[in-house]
Amino acid sequence: MSDWERWLTDEAVRRDAAGLTRRLRPRGPDDDVIDLAGNDYLGLSRDPLVVAAAAEAARIWGAGAGASRLVTGTLSLHETLEQELAAFLGQPAALAMSTGYHANLAAVTALADRDTLIVSDAHIHASLIDAARLSRAEIAVTPHGDVDAVSAALASAGGRRAIVLAESIYSVLGDAAPLTSLADVCASYGALLIVDEAHGLGVAGAIGEGLVRDLGLASAPHVIVTATLSKSLGAQGGAVLGSPALIHHLVNRARPFIFDTALNPAATGGALAALRVLRSRPELPSVIRSRVSSLAAQLGVDAPAGAVLSVPMASPQIAIAAQAECLEHGVRVGCFRPPSVPDGISRLRITTNAGVPADAWARATDVLSKVVEAHR
Ligand SMILES: Cc1ncc(COP(=O)(O)O)c(C=O)c1O
Repeated sequence: MSDWERWLTDEAVRRDAAGLTRRLRPRGPDDDVIDLAGNDYLGLSRDPLVVAAAAEAARIWGAGAGASRLVTGTLSLHETLEQELAAFLGQPAALAMSTGYHANLAAVTALADRDTLIVSDAHIHASLIDAARLSRAEIAVTPHGDVDAVSAALASAGGRRAIVLAESIYSVLGDAAPLTSLADVCASYGALLIVDEAHGLGVAGAIGEGLVRDLGLASAPHVIVTATLSKSLGAQGGAVLGSPALIHHLVNRARPFIFDTALNPAATGGALAALRVLRSRPELPSVIRSRVSSLAAQLGVDAPAGAVLSVPMASPQIAIAAQAECLEHGVRVGCFRPPSVPDGISRLRITTNAGVPADAWARATDVLSKVVEAHR
């Protein structure tokens, strides 16, 4: 065995002993399990209009964009998606990327460098954490949702450019960031606020326009938005949204955008169709809201701001057993355990899905109530 093979084996043994081994579990196309673990909050990934648009885009443009955006990869379809996405989120302009992960990497690394202070909420997504590290900026992590701590960190910037990172709706606990206060604090220190709307787009706001626009912050020049096309829009990809000057800067400086093949045509066409379905069915986000609040009441937890319901479990083992029992009864839910949770508490992560038919939703909530009750 080579040194490298021995190292891989040792790492695997260590992970197993700590109960941290992750495994891929391929699913078939029709496993008739009700999926309340994924992030397809509006059920649009299987919407016939969305699927047809994705297929049509592949037929017209090909299976891949063929090159990066600055070479020959920019399609008129990208431009249409960017214009309609920006309009929906109330932003002047948008730039589409291959993933939401890329969008966060692009925004942060193009705006921050060694002379920047990044102030990062303790619960932000791994993509923003990685982006901050890649930027080489100094990073100050503040307690979750603590605006005073953000203010204190900004006060210590000492004249450097500063950027605050937050999610509009946090992905694990489903709670909302205090965006209005954060935007005020950032304005008073001349800092930028980057808000990841991955779990806000399609969910937050009266028509799913996201929390930034809902709170009237979309026109604030110091607030920048990132989004993913892979959750509520049911496709794949991401975007950074803000002023034309910001987009111009990203096109010229954001390495995760410049050195990456353009967003593929099927994902672009699918996301665009999903956005149009969302615009034509403005009631969809309210289905999420009513489902999530009644399920929260049934499970005895607080209703979240977004579609994610986080149900604390007494131990990692109990959380795993409850998840397995849900699956035995035909309902797939997520299970987050340390170290993948921001606060050390094991939990079931249940995503509300407006696309699940009413009878299946009733069956699923019945299973969830019984399983959670049995494991309390
Ligand atoms: C908050 C947040 N930001 C960004 C991403 C990355 O998005 P994508 O899956 O499109 O790369 C995710 C995905 O899980 C997320 O939850």
